[in-house]
Order: sequence, then C-alpha cells, then structure tokens
Amino acid sequence: MTQKDALLEAPPVDAATPGRAGILAAVCGGGGAGKPGGRCSKARLLPLFGLLLFVGCFLTLRAMQSYAGACRPAAATAAAGGAATLGSIDEMRERIRFRGTNRRLPSCIIIGVRKCGTRALLEFMNMHPKVQAAHGEVHFFDSERYAYGLEWYRKRMPYSFPGQVTVEKSPAYFITDGVPERVRAMNNATRLIVVVRDPVDRAVSDYAQIHANRLAKGKPHATFEAYAVNDYGEVNTSYKAIRIGVYHRHLQRWLDVFPRTQMHVVDGDRLVVDPASELTRIEAFLGLEPLIHADNFYFNATKGFFCLRHDATERCLTDTKGRKHPAINPRVLQKLEDYYRPFNLKFYEQVGRDFNWR
Ligand code: A3P
Repeated sequence: MTQKDALLEAPPVDAATPGRAGILAAVCGGGGAGKPGGRCSKARLLPLFGLLLFVGCFLTLRAMQSYAGACRPAAATAAAGGAATLGSIDEMRERIRFRGTNRRLPSCIIIGVRKCGTRALLEFMNMHPKVQAAHGEVHFFDSERYAYGLEWYRKRMPYSFPGQVTVEKSPAYFITDGVPERVRAMNNATRLIVVVRDPVDRAVSDYAQIHANRLAKGKPHATFEAYAVNDYGEVNTSYKAIRIGVYHRHLQRWLDVFPRTQMHVVDGDRLVVDPASELTRIEAFLGLEPLIHADNFYFNATKGFFCLRHDATERCLTDTKGRKHPAINPRVLQKLEDYYRPFNLKFYEQVGRDFNWR
C-alpha cells in the first residue's frame, strides 16, 4: 500500500482525532452539534465562541504592536531630520551578519579629546571600506565595565571581515588614570588616535554642551565666566572643562605606556575646514589605501559644517555637534589663553607639531 492509499483508507478525522467535532463533543458532552445524541445548545456554545474571539483579537493586537515597533526607529529618524535612509542602513548593518564576519576587539581607539571632533572623526573614518566603527561610546576601560572582561567588550564591537580595522571611541579614556595600562594589557599594538583643538574653544564647547543638557532638564546653570574664573579673578583650575584642556599632562600618561609612533594626533580645527586632508593622514597612519576624498564631503551652509556623502546618501552630524557657542567676556578668554599658553607649548613639543593656538 502506498502512502497515499494509506491516507485514503485512514479513518475520517472526526472519528479518529479530537478535531472540530471532537472539541464540540467535549463542549457539548456528547455526539457534537447537530448530531444525534448531541446536547449542544446555543447557550453552551457561546463561551467557546467568546474565547475564540478573545484569542483572535489578542493575537491581532500583538501583531499590530510589533509591526509598529519595527517601524518606529525609521519614522523617528525621519522626523528628526529626514536621515531615515541612513538611520535604517546603520540599524540593518548592526543586525545583519555577513558570512565570514566576526566581532573583533578594536585594533584602533579614538581616545579623545572630548568636544574636539571625536564623533565627526569616527563617522568619517567609517566611510572607509576597511573600517568598522562601534556605534556608541563603549566606556570599557574607564568604568566599572572593565570588570566584565574583554569578551564583554568584544561583543560590543561591530561585525567585521578579517583585515578590517575595528575602531571604538570613548573620549573619557584620554583623561582617566589607568586606562593606558588597561589598553596595553588588551593589545600593546593598539593604534591610538587623539583629536585636539584650541583648548579655550574646547572649554567653551564643553560648557555649551553641559549648559544645553541642563537647560533641557530644567536645571539651573551659571554662565561660563562664573565657572571659569574664581572670586579672585584667577582661572578656576579645578573646573573640569578647563582641566581637560591641559593636554600635555594627559598625553604624558599615554606616552609613558605607548610609543609615540603608535599614536596619531588629529588637528580638530582642520578637521572642521578640510576633513579630507585629515582623513588622508589617518589612512596613512593605519596603513589603509587612501580612499576617502574631498568628494566624500559637502559643505552644508545651514549647519555650517561639512557633511558626509557616501554610498549614494548624504547626511550631517546631529544638532548636538556644531552647537552655537555663547559670547564670552574677552577678558576671561584672555586669561584662559594666558593660562594654556605654556601647556600648549609643552604639548607641541610632545607631539612634534605646532598647532598655533592663541
Ligand atoms: P561644537 O559643538 O563646539 O562646535 P565631539 O564629537 O568630540 O563631541 O566634538 C564636537 C565638535 O566636533 C563640535 O564642537 C564641532 O566643532 C566638531 N566638528 C568637527 N567636524 C564637524 C562636523 N563635520 N559636523 C559637526 N561638528 C563637527
């Protein structure tokens, strides 16, 4: 007997399995609705149909919810400035895993400096086909996350092909004690990138960011001058926004652990006006083919900065990058310039490059 014959000879579903008739029999307590011996009244069937209706509605609602959830990120990005296409490409890139890829520990880290263009640099580098950048700031080496171990860190990295450079950026690494030693313990060949800008502008930018965040939360915040200068009219050297700008001090801790040749310093002011040239230097530092050119950038007059042109899409950094700075009392600015001058000279000497800051 063939399988098909056996199927034809099999007893009908009603008789052999608890199908529709079986269920009805269970509910009706007998031969089923409309069958001889059945004791099924409308009143007995009503709860069953009610239950089926409830389950049906529940499943439909769940399906609608998950569909809305899937649409939300793209819709939100579109509302925030029309970069929906790139937003969803980035999200897809995070989810899709191509054959032959793996998550790898970074071989290059942008260690700082906060408010000097670290985000712009990471996004620009990520245009290179041989670079895979981690999305957020992982803050592994400068926080309690270090206790989670390198495997935890590796899993925060994007998927990459063998030969691609995985890059992470967490600007707090630059100023946190113990981080250079931890990075060396992971891999003493890690390549380090530091982007710097005039420390006076950096301090104002730092203040502007914190000010905007506090205002958004309805919290009070004094003027930059009130933080930057103490009651005696001296520079307030304990103000964090000012301490970060003493670059040579922070850099020395890194140079005590890593050779200068393993570190590349980016001019953040040039990154703003001529991003392509700074990217060419980075490609050389990382031993990558020079593939990022001037036509990968276009100047957006509304934003006042260069934006990215890549993979047939164009986009700018978010509004949190390139904020308007408050006007600062010129005498306070002068005090800060005088304060930083000797430190800047030490920094130029350390890195072998004169940045000509005020
Ligand atoms: P401002 O907001 O003070 O202008 P970070 O990413 O490290 O927080 O640095 C933010 C700074 O990146 C911005 O500081 C801005 O000057 C600088 N930047 C450099 N290139 C930029 C770009 N193409 N778009 C926006 N900001 C850019």
